[in-house]
Amino acid sequence: MAELGFEVIGVDIDPAKVEILQSGRVPFYEPGLPEVLHRNIAAGRLRFTTSLAEAATAADIHFICVGTPQQSGANAADLSQVFGSIQALAPHLRTGALVVGKSTVPVGTAALLAEQLALTAPAAEVAWNPEFLREGFAVTDTLHPDRLVVGVRSQHAEELLRQVYAPLIDQGVPFLVTDFPTAELVKVAANSFLATKISFINAMAEVCEAAGADITQLAEAIGYDPRIGNQFLAAGLGFGGGCLPKDIRAFMARAGELGAEEALAFLREVDQINLRQRAHTVSLALAALDGSFAGRNVTVLGAAFKPDSDDVRDSPALAVAAAIHNAGGNVVVHDPKALANAARVYPTLTYLEDVTEALAGAELVLHLTEWPEYRELDPAKITSTAKPRHLIDARNRLDPQLWRAAGWTYRALGRPTA
Ligand code: UDX
Repeated sequence: MAELGFEVIGVDIDPAKVEILQSGRVPFYEPGLPEVLHRNIAAGRLRFTTSLAEAATAADIHFICVGTPQQSGANAADLSQVFGSIQALAPHLRTGALVVGKSTVPVGTAALLAEQLALTAPAAEVAWNPEFLREGFAVTDTLHPDRLVVGVRSQHAEELLRQVYAPLIDQGVPFLVTDFPTAELVKVAANSFLATKISFINAMAEVCEAAGADITQLAEAIGYDPRIGNQFLAAGLGFGGGCLPKDIRAFMARAGELGAEEALAFLREVDQINLRQRAHTVSLALAALDGSFAGRNVTVLGAAFKPDSDDVRDSPALAVAAAIHNAGGNVVVHDPKALANAARVYPTLTYLEDVTEALAGAELVLHLTEWPEYRELDPAKITSTAKPRHLIDARNRLDPQLWRAAGWTYRALGRPTA
């Protein structure tokens, strides 16, 4: 928003985070974001505070960007941060203020919040404007989105949001105006479709493996059909992160409450296929080591849920690493950016920042997050003297010939074994 020219105040309840941001640093890894942050703080358009009162009284538009994680022990979303932040904001809202929800919420939440606000801040209004950015591409996706979707109940709200997004609308970004439930559903429908696409190709990978076919060639071949498209067809360890897994589960839970459970029954299968990839990778690893992990040296390449991110929330890579560690393996994990976060979640694994060192004693290497630098590895230079030496490429990105030529067995998900 600051980059688009607005005066922006970021509010967080965590003083440490506010201090880091205010000093021009980003408390997580996101390519391109430090530059944007720096530029806009220096230009005086962006600052950060823990004082909601001070920030809110100065503003016309209030974006709610808090998390909606999965409830512990249930599929549904935990909405406490959304309700809590709007409750805290209400007493400070000016007449005509617009509260714009960006968080991913169960359909019906915006209407509930509007009811609540009508009691506590009747001069303010709610709108819903789902966020579609991908981690690793946050800056580009924000400044060049595929589309903008706004759920509104008044002309006033639509006009304000048209003003906010005018620079993007002028560039031709589609601007869709909907009611509340449609805007809320667009987000979960989009993420469900993406998750389904990944699980579809992973189901095909299972069949390829059974039939001796090659999933990478199959994906390329079907991807040329523009109705299918070639994106999000990378078979492998499956999806993780802070969005896709919890969003499809919360969507199923909400559909159940609405009496539409059957409509989303297929998402249960999408989730199962996805989790099966993790279990399958662990069993391939076990088979490579002749049925026992006890005391065996396993190196895991990648801890983040995807490359270009240090996010380890529901990371498939870490789940596999932890399973092997729990079964007695000596697991060493490497990741270019996510080691500190990974160590907070699984403190008992061994983490090494130097990839050469991490690979030195490996009997089995698992390629679990496809950071580009792993493709640059020269397997002939790995000093491990173990015999035999095994590689499992759970992201189907490494070169089988190269690794086999260097004396490694190469196994991938959904590809022929030799
Ligand atoms: C996702 C949506 O893409 C984004 O629009 C939404 O706003 C938030 O959720 P993100 O979680 O950042 O974004 O990651 P994404 O790039 O979608 O990848 C999700 C997971 O799917 C990753 O674990 C990735 O490794 C996996 N994936 C992706 C595959 O396994 N195969 C693919 O072909 C694509």
